[in-house]
Amino acid sequence: MKVYRVKDYDAMSRKGAAFLAAKIILKPNALLGLATGSTPAGTYKRLVEMYQAGDLDFSGIRTVNLDEYRGIQQEDPNSYYYFMNENLFSKVNILPENTHIPDGGDPDAQGVCREYEDKIERLGPIEVQLLGLGHDGHIAFNEPGDEFPDQTHCARLDRQTIEANKRFFPKEQDVPRQAYTMGIGTIMKARSILMLVSGREKAEILKKVLEGPVTPKVPGSILRFHPDVTIIADEAALGGGQAQ
Ligand code: F6R
Repeated sequence: MKVYRVKDYDAMSRKGAAFLAAKIILKPNALLGLATGSTPAGTYKRLVEMYQAGDLDFSGIRTVNLDEYRGIQQEDPNSYYYFMNENLFSKVNILPENTHIPDGGDPDAQGVCREYEDKIERLGPIEVQLLGLGHDGHIAFNEPGDEFPDQTHCARLDRQTIEANKRFFPKEQDVPRQAYTMGIGTIMKARSILMLVSGREKAEILKKVLEGPVTPKVPGSILRFHPDVTIIADEAALGGGQAQ
C-alpha cells in the first residue's frame, strides 16, 4: 500500500487526476471504476481540464460506478447518475453507452445487482477503482458489519452515512435508506485501487484503515490485503500518520 501525503484537497485532486490520466493514456480502452461524493469532485474537474487542453481522450474509455441510491430515478439531481453526468461524462468525449451505473429507479434489487455484477465481470477487469472513504470506514456502500459483503448487493445505509449525506438533500428524511453497491469482493478484483481522502473529520477512520486490525467493522481496512493500492490523502486526513 503506497500512501502519498499532499498539502490539501486541491493537491489531492491534482495528483488523483494525474494518476487516472496516466492510466487513460497508457490504456485508451481501460475500464475505470468510478466513485461519487465530495472527495472525487475536484479530481473530475481536473480531468475535464486536461481533456479541454487536448491532453486526454475518453473515446475508448469504459466506466463502471461503485453505487447508486435505490428508489431514485436517473434524472433526479441527487442520483449518482446525475452527479457523474454533471461532473464528468457530459464534459468529456466518453460514449454514454460505455458508462455504467446501477439503475436506482429499478426496484428489483436482486435483478439489478446480479445484472450489474455480471456486467462488471464481462467488461472487466477494472483497471483502476477510484474510492472515497466514508466517516464510518465504508467503501462504496459497504457499511461496517460482521462480514465483508462479496458481490454487488442492496445495502442499508448506516445512521452515520445518512447523517453525512443529508447535506445533499433538502432534509434528512429525503436521504434514501438503501443503495445498490459493488461488494467488497467486486472492488478487490480491480487490478489497482486509488483511494482519495481529505479533511480532518476523516483522520480517525483513515488511521484505523491504515493501522488498525483488518475487520469488517472498518470495511476500508480490507484494502491492506490488495496487492496494488495507492492512497492520496491530505495533511488534515493523515494527521501525524504514516506517509511516503
Ligand atoms: C460514493 C461512495 C462512497 C463515498 C464516501 C465518501 O460513490 O461510494 O463510499 O466515497 O461516502 O463520501 P465523500 O467523498 O462525500 O466524503
